[in-house]
Amino acid sequence: MSRFLVLHGPNLNLLGKREPAVYGSDTLEAINERLQAWAEPQHVELRIIQSNHEGALVDAIQQALGWADGIVINAGAYTHYSYALRDALTSVALPAVEVHLSNIYAREAFRHESVIAPVCRGQICGLGWYGYILALQALQRLINASS
Ligand code: DQA
Repeated sequence: MSRFLVLHGPNLNLLGKREPAVYGSDTLEAINERLQAWAEPQHVELRIIQSNHEGALVDAIQQALGWADGIVINAGAYTHYSYALRDALTSVALPAVEVHLSNIYAREAFRHESVIAPVCRGQICGLGWYGYILALQALQRLINASS
């Protein structure tokens, strides 16, 4: 049984209403249901948390220590400037995969840099909600390869 923390950052609670041309029309709830539906037959346990607050995301990363085998993180705009989230990921030293629904490299220049990417094992962007599934699959492979 693998256990993964899935973290959604600021404004992702508005998915479905928020810029659907960029982020799609699925709600976060619908996406989370698909992730849980994927996880169940794989015997993967998911803890899924969304917060608009940097400190709450730091807390969630810290609390993953001792429970989770890995972290999938879409840090929203914090991706581009939160050294606190980067330090939290480094501190817990769990394998992490960064996800973005949109292709951040095809958008405004400020989105082209991710300060958390260097401390993640990989990054998936531009593939919509399915990017979370790909990130979970990547974590599963990483965990199995190291056990
Ligand atoms: C995002 C991309 C970020 O630049 C943006 O601030 C978001 C969503 C994405 O999933 O495409 O909030 O992380």
